[in-house]
Amino acid sequence: MTKKKLIAGNWKMNGNLASNEALLKALLQGGGSFECDVAVCTPAPYFAQVQALAAGTSLALGAQDVSAHASGAYTGEQSAAMLKDFGVRYAIVGHSERRQFHGETDDLVASKAAAALAAGITPIVCVGETLAQRDAGETEAVVKRQLAAVIHVNGHCISEIVVAYEPVWAIGTGKTATPQQAQSVHAVLRAQLHHAASAHAAGIRILYGGSMNAANAAELLAENDIDGGLIGGASLKAPDFLQIIAAAR
Ligand code: PGA
Repeated sequence: MTKKKLIAGNWKMNGNLASNEALLKALLQGGGSFECDVAVCTPAPYFAQVQALAAGTSLALGAQDVSAHASGAYTGEQSAAMLKDFGVRYAIVGHSERRQFHGETDDLVASKAAAALAAGITPIVCVGETLAQRDAGETEAVVKRQLAAVIHVNGHCISEIVVAYEPVWAIGTGKTATPQQAQSVHAVLRAQLHHAASAHAAGIRILYGGSMNAANAAELLAENDIDGGLIGGASLKAPDFLQIIAAAR
């Protein structure tokens, strides 16, 4: 089955008006049409800027989080409908930094995925084990538990999600999972998706994230079940991000 790979940048809490403009102009230098799907998940204050600069190109806009609620007294949160107003196509949910620093549970992540889906935004659902969990042989159990919560709430439209396997020990550390380590977890996730939605599982994109860079992207993306990447640090450097995009045909 042919499905386009997805390369999504996760800018995290980085950037300003001037640096965003420089980065986007460099990314879009070649006209902004890419062989794979490409998105940048930016801080919310810059949605309008990115939307304007990327207009007419195939660069999609993504958010780094979304509220599980539709509206109301939730100070500091942004609803999926608000994201939609700015042309947001993807929303990362359940990033390990949200789980770790904001106490997000599997159930909350599942609700956030549901809120995104209801607004027509594709959730990029992050799962991944810590180093202690890997060392304890719990990797499979952890990622399956995290994905199961999302499937439980969103089973009827599970074909609409993107999954990102991001081993916590590989995020921002320069330690990348080997292609074999990543592929073996991706295969577990694929089997779980198959169990939930056999007709659609092959078409669901499972991204790898965690110190993916210009040097290691091609070998990771060559694995059977690695359908793209969620890229943090390397997405802030246009030449590196473009090389990763080029590796994702
Ligand atoms: P990294 O971050 O590429 O800087 O490791 C990936 C992520 O957290 O999504």
